[in-house]
Amino acid sequence: MSKVLGIESSCDETAAAVVADGREVLSNVVASQVELHSRYGGVVPEVASRQHLLAVIPVMSQALAQAHVSWHELSAVAMTIGPGLVGSLLVGVNVAKAIALSHSLPLIGVNHLEAHIYANWLEGKEPSFPALCLIVSGGHSDLILMTGHGNYHRLGQTRDDAAGEAFDKVARVLGLGYPGGPAIEQASREGTARHHLPRAWLRDSDDFSFSGLKTAVLRLAQELGTMDRSTVADIAASFQEAAVDVLVAKTVEAAKRHQVNCILLSGGVAANLALRETMELRSPIPVLRPSPILCTDNAAMVSASGYFRLLSGQSDPWNIDVRPNLRLG
Ligand code: KG4
Ligand code: ZN
Repeated sequence: MSKVLGIESSCDETAAAVVADGREVLSNVVASQVELHSRYGGVVPEVASRQHLLAVIPVMSQALAQAHVSWHELSAVAMTIGPGLVGSLLVGVNVAKAIALSHSLPLIGVNHLEAHIYANWLEGKEPSFPALCLIVSGGHSDLILMTGHGNYHRLGQTRDDAAGEAFDKVARVLGLGYPGGPAIEQASREGTARHHLPRAWLRDSDDFSFSGLKTAVLRLAQELGTMDRSTVADIAASFQEAAVDVLVAKTVEAAKRHQVNCILLSGGVAANLALRETMELRSPIPVLRPSPILCTDNAAMVSASGYFRLLSGQSDPWNIDVRPNLRLG
């Protein structure tokens, strides 16, 4: 059995995990910095990297202890090398190098976006290729055609705000706090989608755009002036409905066009119940969706992604660097 230690520190979660054979989660420890950053309304890069420094060793020790795995039982160390915040990435990469060097283990640098996709390998039925991957996070809204392990073709991406970024910005306009995604989802439950907000269909393209929708919410909030709880809930519900409508319609259309075997949801926004349920409802193709805890940033997905690279004979040299602007496909 191959046990891979994964380390994730690309943004504001310090995470470590041990996964067996790329699919069985033995431990998955996440130390969130959300409370620390919420007072600033978003992630402060320098605060994030300092917090990673404080948390990374305890988080990693906890991951090994929970997995009942000792250093000599590990097969490899995988860590996120990008995309992400440079100072944050450096912490995880350097710790991974030290561990790999001192225990003579292969070192595997992982693309954070690829890792999000591999969260779909951690539960239930194994995905089959070709698969259409929708990655919706704080920094990305990508539609990726995956034809095999490590084979990606990017069909579309956001032209402006990422889906999660739009949730976060709209939440700020509505006074719902940070992070915005869960706050919008919660407020929506009390509201009705009574406002028709614009959808950017961008016909003949698999790209997304959310800035028009975000601006429409801003205008509506300005027109309404002081908003009570139910007004906020109605706007949140209307925004969520519009964002989900576009994400689902475009993903299902691309999935049919490329005749894929399944749709794989991933990234923090994939934790959204409305998105998960609507995708399942409207797609004639099977939809795989990791548990919410595996959609948001975690290290189990990094271990899984690293395992499949290891399986294909890949590992990285000691001088591997962080790549803050790394892309996929
Ligand atoms: O994947 P992730 O944890 O970190 C990045 O790689 O960016 O995604 C974070 C994003 C944030 O924008 C957050 O507001 C959003 O995912 N998010 C959600 C939900 N949970 C997290 N958006 C909508 N509904 C949710 N339940
Ligand atoms: Zn992420």
